[in-house]
Amino acid sequence: MGAPPAQLKVAGRSAVAPFIVMDVLSAANERAAAGEDIVHLEVGEPGAGPPEPVLDAARQAIGRVPIGYTEALGRPALRAAIASHYRDRHGLAVDPEQVIVTVGASGAFVLSFLAAFDPGDRVIVPEPAFPAYKNILQALGVEVVRLGLGPKTAFKPTPDLLETVAGPVAGLVIASPSNPTGTMLDEAELAAIAGHCRARGIRLISDEIYHGITYERDACSILELERDAVVINGFSKYFCMTGWRLGWLIAPPDLVRPIELLAQNLFISPPALAQEAALIAFDCRADLDRRIDTYRRNRAALLDRLPAAGLDRLAPVDGAFYLYADVSDLTDDSARLCDDLLQEIGVALAPGADFDGAQGHRFVRLSFAGTHERVIEGAERLTRWLRERR
Ligand SMILES: Cc1ncc(COP(=O)(O)O)c(C=O)c1O
Repeated sequence: MGAPPAQLKVAGRSAVAPFIVMDVLSAANERAAAGEDIVHLEVGEPGAGPPEPVLDAARQAIGRVPIGYTEALGRPALRAAIASHYRDRHGLAVDPEQVIVTVGASGAFVLSFLAAFDPGDRVIVPEPAFPAYKNILQALGVEVVRLGLGPKTAFKPTPDLLETVAGPVAGLVIASPSNPTGTMLDEAELAAIAGHCRARGIRLISDEIYHGITYERDACSILELERDAVVINGFSKYFCMTGWRLGWLIAPPDLVRPIELLAQNLFISPPALAQEAALIAFDCRADLDRRIDTYRRNRAALLDRLPAAGLDRLAPVDGAFYLYADVSDLTDDSARLCDDLLQEIGVALAPGADFDGAQGHRFVRLSFAGTHERVIEGAERLTRWLRERR
């Protein structure tokens, strides 16, 4: 063994921003392990696990079927079940050949971004947004064009805002309902964005992972309006299967084979056991729909308590399980505020910087995906703290 080389190269493209909420989660867990009673309002993870029949299907699959590799695009039966879900929920005929099962929605981002964009291409990411969009694009050498959103458009991208982006654009990533704001784009708003993209040859990627978790109206899928869009979805949120690492994308025909080639090489196949279990998940939709009532009660409790305590500049929470709150009257450093709240009252929140590099320091995100009791406990600690502070 010789001396180690002085300096081995670490690729510059690996220098993406951290997913700050995971750091907050670690700090919160450390405190919980030391005996503190921590309320987790930081993580976007359903409080309940998968429905019992899903767990049973997984238990029975072990020993009954080989848990080996599957087709790179996913098991044909699961691709067909996902396609049927679009007929059931949106009245849409989706060709199972266009359904691609992935390692979480996260895997679908990597595959679709790799298949659709080259290094140096420019892709618009409206912010605030789920941080992985920009971080994955950046790691792939794609130029991220940030488009700042705010309360003026209820945190929604619009064709007028998109029009302000100068120069060539290869793609646009949208999410409805959005993480972190929970806002939804209605049919007319989605159609306007799709029209903008179609007229300019911009590849539209629509993250629909929070479909099924809505409070005022059902979510519209971009596929109802634009068959050439790429849809990303998965089993982590509505289906409550985060750790099973299963998602899907619906790709236009020109991207299916390129994605298959990438999937074969990057992942070989999505997880076989999770695919067995997920097949049953579609039979559990009545149970899963009932679970939305818990989120609805949590949302109502927060919308009742927080504004009364002065936290009243909130994005419209049409769906998902987040509140995005402007805290600029309390601080211009929301990460610091989150640290203080964790230390002083044991409530973990996600700082806005995770979701918006430019304006996030003025915002925090509260997740109400947990149990009703814990969300109420968190709301009470927060309101007491806010009242004392003012
Ligand atoms: C908007 C959004 N898309 C995708 C994901 C990742 O989903 P998955 O667990 O399927 O990788 C998340 C997780 O929080 C999310 O909020």
